[in-house]
Amino acid sequence: MTARILDGKAVAQTVTQEVAARVAARVAEGHAPPGLAVVLVGENAASQVYVRNKRRTTEHVGMRSFAYDYQATLSEDALLAAIDRLNANPDVHGILVQLPLPKHIDPEKVVERIDPGKDVDGFHPYNVGRLVLKSPTLRPCTPFGCMRLLQETGESLVGKHAVVIGQSNIVGRPMALELLMARCTVTICHSATRDLPGIVRQGDVVVAGVGRPRFVQGDWIRDGAIVVDVGINRGEDGKLVGDVDFEAAKARASWITPVPGGVGPMTIAMLLANTLRAAELRDG
Ligand code: GUN
Repeated sequence: MTARILDGKAVAQTVTQEVAARVAARVAEGHAPPGLAVVLVGENAASQVYVRNKRRTTEHVGMRSFAYDYQATLSEDALLAAIDRLNANPDVHGILVQLPLPKHIDPEKVVERIDPGKDVDGFHPYNVGRLVLKSPTLRPCTPFGCMRLLQETGESLVGKHAVVIGQSNIVGRPMALELLMARCTVTICHSATRDLPGIVRQGDVVVAGVGRPRFVQGDWIRDGAIVVDVGINRGEDGKLVGDVDFEAAKARASWITPVPGGVGPMTIAMLLANTLRAAELRDG
């Protein structure tokens, strides 16, 4: 079997256009445009690229973008005070603090300081808890984007065995909860998992979020499986590669996401969808 490509770039464009149309309609009704504050601390090169794209797309859909760039020496207290100001600012509907943060800042404290109603990353324990309890409000963007891509296959997920590789708070755990909510049977694998290839071979759906280039081998993929690759790694030649050996997996899967152009663009699209949702939940 040769897989069909799950084109994240195209689906993200559709989602972004839907968001832009709804933003325009809200503004025409007299609402303030949704506002998204993106906070960057330090000079991590990858983070700078992600943040620039987030801000650019925010403006592109007609939202207000509030940019805060701080030096890596910013104290934890100063960051928490900045979040308090954003929580109190009525023009700001969504707050995103780009991770990772410099080592002297505790990311848990920072995430928990964000008003859950403005937590458009969906990382606050309140929003994670709502996802656990099957009534999500603001959903973690990357898993939310993966679910939107899976919807694009037109296949029912009910009863499928979904294997999630990786147990991070940003990807693996919320992804597993999303798949469970979609009535998959879910297995979460991590670095202590025994016989990882054997478990991945059972997957009708395989989601890889481990952050290791081409870690998932083609012969781990069951014939006809749907493969979602969340990894964005820099290969030895400087090119971006996923966590899955794309060419080998493509020969067996029914659907597969490319890297770049798969999950990556979806994360930003769902961030904007969440910001719109946050504005609708607060302002009506
Ligand atoms: N760093 C890597 N991915 C993400 C994300 O989705 N949100 C934030 N805030 N930081 C990240």
